[in-house]
Amino acid sequence: MIPVIVMNAILVFITVLLLVAERYLVTYGTCRIQVKKDQETREISVKGGGTLMSALVDNKVEISSSCGGRGTCGYCKCRVVEGGGEILPTEEIFMSRQEKADHMRLSCQVKIKRDITIIIPDFLSIVRQMVINRKFDPNKRWRVTIR
Ligand code: FES
Repeated sequence: MIPVIVMNAILVFITVLLLVAERYLVTYGTCRIQVKKDQETREISVKGGGTLMSALVDNKVEISSSCGGRGTCGYCKCRVVEGGGEILPTEEIFMSRQEKADHMRLSCQVKIKRDITIIIPDFLSIVRQMVINRKFDPNKRWRVTIR
């Protein structure tokens, strides 16, 4: 029993040490996020180290989500044009092969470590336009391409 307790105590100590080291020793400085949405481009400055989603929410940029950033709904997709790094294994299950090729990412999984350029697809307005133009058929499979 004692070896288990000692081992757990060592693991907790290492975890706390890593969290403290990341918080106080790793700094990414101020990063710029260029957001393209609805034909508009906006630039925001944030402190690096947080997630892209929290930076967007803090700066009142709307992005879909139903899991609150836990990486389980897959609704917070955006196209990271520059500065997002490689896709994480936790994101891959939500992405089609085409989306991976188009550099789509889950904004809640992207850590801001440098300047980033993103495009946020506005699926709601795309569907709204399809309904208005009577091009939306719920019985038909449809695909949206983000450019
Ligand atoms: S907010 Fe749900 S997966 Fe990102």
